Amino acid sequence: MITLGLNAAFHDSSAALVIDGELVAASEEERFTRIKHAKRPLPFTAWELPFHAIDDCLRQAGLKLTDVDHVAYSFDVQRFLRQHRVGDSITLPLQPSAHRAAALADGWDSPWDPLFASYMANVPRLLADGAPHHLRGRLAGARPDGPYRFHGVDHHLSHQASAFLAAPFERCAVMVLDGRGEHATTSYGVYRDDRFELLGEVGMPHSLGLLYERITSHLGFLHSSDEYKVMALAALGEPRWQGLLAEQIEIGEAGVYRVRPMDLTAMFGPPRERGSEMQQRDFDLAASLQAVLEASVLKLATWLREASGERHLAMAGGVALNCVMNAKLRDAGLFDQVWVQPAAGDAGTALGAALWIDAKERGSAERLAPRTWQMQHAYWGPSYDDAEIERFLQWAKLPYRKLGDVARETAALLAEGKVIGWHQGRMEFGPRALGARSILASPIEASMQARINELKDREDFRPVAPAVTEEAIGEWFTPAAANGGVSPFMLFIYDVLPEQAKKIPAACHSDLTARVQTVSARAQPRFHALLSAFAERTGVPVLINTSFNVRGEPVVCSPKDAVNAFATTPIDALVIGDCLVLKEALK
Ligand SMILES: [Fe+2]
Repeated sequence: MITLGLNAAFHDSSAALVIDGELVAASEEERFTRIKHAKRPLPFTAWELPFHAIDDCLRQAGLKLTDVDHVAYSFDVQRFLRQHRVGDSITLPLQPSAHRAAALADGWDSPWDPLFASYMANVPRLLADGAPHHLRGRLAGARPDGPYRFHGVDHHLSHQASAFLAAPFERCAVMVLDGRGEHATTSYGVYRDDRFELLGEVGMPHSLGLLYERITSHLGFLHSSDEYKVMALAALGEPRWQGLLAEQIEIGEAGVYRVRPMDLTAMFGPPRERGSEMQQRDFDLAASLQAVLEASVLKLATWLREASGERHLAMAGGVALNCVMNAKLRDAGLFDQVWVQPAAGDAGTALGAALWIDAKERGSAERLAPRTWQMQHAYWGPSYDDAEIERFLQWAKLPYRKLGDVARETAALLAEGKVIGWHQGRMEFGPRALGARSILASPIEASMQARINELKDREDFRPVAPAVTEEAIGEWFTPAAANGGVSPFMLFIYDVLPEQAKKIPAACHSDLTARVQTVSARAQPRFHALLSAFAERTGVPVLINTSFNVRGEPVVCSPKDAVNAFATTPIDALVIGDCLVLKEALK
């Protein structure tokens, strides 16, 4: 059974292809269109579909759209409409002010909700007819009614399924925290015996995710995008407004919470202008927000542990990309293990919707089909073979050299202090670069952190994260044994062991924590070999790993993207497949 999952209602548009319970390919639209997050999450952009990502998934599997049995779209327009008094038609506003009263009287949250709903209801028509000309090859021939069956899957259920149908657990509690879906902003469930039971939901307007987004905006960053910067800022501040902020969040019984309406300017002063100097006040607000988020989520998780009776927790939703919060949950002793979907943001809902429909359609009326697959790695995007890479480098007339031993020769360059663009194999699905499209550097000199931030044209306060061989995590970071001793998706922070911190100063945040990625020989043989070769030379099995992109751009995808980013930034060398391009050779 072939199921194509799609996410496009809000942002991080993506596609995923599942065949008989196993993920075959997953791609994000931004990687092809080069527009970060693919689009802004607005009603006016809700119609856009991720045609490039769909095409890439089908290409990887050697299929056409008409070969697909089910299409699973991660938003259920029927559920969204159920809350409103609508028949077969809705009134669209030209001016929101003229329509506001009528829209609110009809039960819409915003005058643009009818427009959004209309787009959502017409996704099957757009999928059948809307592909751009250059993608018609694989996408032609479909009709609004198939040949596949089209399913709208509840947005939060899609997030939930991306966790419990991908996690390495046979049974688990599930928690999803994001901005919003159809209505839900937070949801809880339990997965066991091939069944999923929803344990509770929190609905709009109460949303810890939206609160984090609002304060991200107040701090002069782009909401639904820069929340991770606020998390990094938090380490530099004092949570002096923690009490005030916590008073605005009422946590009730059964995982329910309410967020009071807040006037952020009255509480914390005027918003910071984007690009202006950071003040202590900004660090303190970030620290207060982070502390309140952590404390609130711990309370919710305590209830979930009790209500589910399960010892393992799987998480998804954009808030679950907050690796400081995740570490608090990991260390709280509530759950034996915590697993977070690497594409925890909306991109992952394409995967979750596809896994859910696949498991339901292959299962019985009472039970989902038993699981045969776990998400051990995040490398589900496109790859480019060596012949293709060489053809491109020759066509571009770039001087390159083929490496005999990629790991050893690259390790030698890194040990000399060179910064390397590293483009290898299938691209990552999800926001983190995990050694397939990464910028790599030695963590041994403290100055490397500033150099990487300068080279990526990003803020000084941003830490860079370390990758370490899976075998060596215990010698460098703690608590190394947590979560089965692995952290393949860079979604938890660790403490750097004090005696080791001075050996890898560039990989430590100011509070001596690090967002660690463990690298296994199984999932990433070449990256693992590189870390081992670097350790042989330097005694340090750790490298700085940051995404291969420049500020404001998506992570590079193709060899051409890699060369563009390499040529326009002060990266010293590019290792792409077996080929090495040196910056000095370009001069
Ligand atoms: Fe979401």
